[in-house]
Amino acid sequence: MTYLITGGAGFIGGNFIHHMLSAHPDDKIVCYDALTYAGNLETLAPVMSNPNFAFVHGDITDRATVNAAFETHRPDVAVNFAAESHVDRSIDNPGLFLQTNVIGTQILMDACRKYGIKRYHQVSTDEVYGDLPLERPDLLFTEETPPHTSSPYSASKAAADLLALAYHRTYKLPVTISRCSNNYGPYHFPEKLIPLMIVNALNDKALPVYGRGENVRDWLYVSDHCKAIDLIVQKGGIGEVYNIGGHNEMRNIDVVKLILKELGKPESLVTYVTDRAGHDLRYAIDPAKISRELGWLPETSFADGIKLTINWYLENRSWWERVITGEYLSYYAAHYNN
Ligand code: NAD
Ligand code: DAU
Repeated sequence: MTYLITGGAGFIGGNFIHHMLSAHPDDKIVCYDALTYAGNLETLAPVMSNPNFAFVHGDITDRATVNAAFETHRPDVAVNFAAESHVDRSIDNPGLFLQTNVIGTQILMDACRKYGIKRYHQVSTDEVYGDLPLERPDLLFTEETPPHTSSPYSASKAAADLLALAYHRTYKLPVTISRCSNNYGPYHFPEKLIPLMIVNALNDKALPVYGRGENVRDWLYVSDHCKAIDLIVQKGGIGEVYNIGGHNEMRNIDVVKLILKELGKPESLVTYVTDRAGHDLRYAIDPAKISRELGWLPETSFADGIKLTINWYLENRSWWERVITGEYLSYYAAHYNN
C-alpha cells in the first residue's frame, strides 16, 4: 500500500508518519507538504533516509503539482492533514483558511477521483460542532451534533467536511472523516496553548492566558489520535464520521498551572490577556462510536502525556529554538502586543 499524507511536516501529520512507518513497515509513505510556517522538515529528519518514505514539496491548492504527485506515486490511500490550523491566525486572515482548507480539500479529492483511490480520509476537528456551555457537563459532541461554527478556521473545516460527504454521495468517493479534540505532544508548534506555555515558561517569559482561563478543552495525546486514524483508514466504514477524544476536559488555567508546577516555575508568570474574539467556551467529545465499532481506546493519560510532552521539549531544545525565530517573532509581537 502507498499512503499520501498531506501536511505531514506539521504536528499531527508528522507524528502520523512516524506511527505509520513503524506500524506498517512494508508500506510506502509519501508526504506532500507546502512547508508553510507550520511545516518543519526537522520533524521528518528521522525518516528521510527510510527507503519507504518520500517527500514532495507542494501546495494542496496547486492542482498541477497535486496531480503530478498522484501520477508519480499512485497512492492507494490519501490522508489529508494539510490545513491552516490556528484559530487566532484565522481571525486575522480568513481568506487563506478558505483557500487551503476548502479549495485545497476539493483539489485533493478531485485528484483522488481522477487517479482512483481506495480511501480518502479527511482529518477534521471537534471545532466543527461549535462549543458547549460550561454549566452543562452532561452535554458532549456526538457525530449527530449539527455543524455550528465560531471562527473562520472552524467554518473552513466544517465546509471541507460537507464537501467530502458530498463527494462521497455524488461521486462515490470512498471517504471517511475523523473529528478529534485538542491534541498535545512532540513536534507541536509553539503558537498553540500547551507548547507555547512550556516554551515561555522555560524562557521565564509571561504565559498569556486569554480571558480568565476558564475555557475548557478536551486533551488527547497525539499518538492516540494517530492510532485512531490508522484504525479508521484500515477498518472504518466508507462515508462514516468518527469522533475521537479521551474524556479529558480541563480548564486552560489548570493546564497552565500544571505545566508551571512540572517545570518548577512560579505562577507569577501567568498573565491574563485580552480574550480571543468568538472564543469557544468548552469542547467535549463523545468517542463512543469509534470505541464500540472499531475498538479504539486512548492509551495515554493526561498525567503521563503532559510529562512525556514536557520531557520532549526539554530534550529537543534545538527543534523549538529554531522555530521561535523569524516569522514567529513578528506574529508573536503583533498578536500579543495588541
Ligand atoms: P499544523 O499547523 O501543525 O500543520 C499543518 C501542516 O500542513 C504543515 O506542515 C503545513 O506546512 C501544511 N500545509 C499548510 N497549508 C498547506 C497547503 N496549502 N498545502 C500543503 N501543505 C500545507 O497542524 P496540526 O495541528 O498538525 O493539524 C493537522 C490537521 O489536524 C489539521 O487539518 C487540523 O485541522 C486537524 N486537527 C488538529 C487538532 C489539534 O489539536 N492540533 C485537533 C483536531 C484536528
Ligand atoms: O479542538 C481541536 C482544535 O484544537 C484544532 O482543530 C485546532 O487546529 C487546534 O489549534 C486547537 O484549537 P484551540 O483554539 O482549542 O487551540 P489553542 O491551543 O489555540 O488554544 C487552546 C485554548 O487555550 C483556547 O481556549 C485558547 C487558549 N489560549 C490559547 C493561546 C494560544 C490562551 O489562553 N492563550 C494563548 O496564548
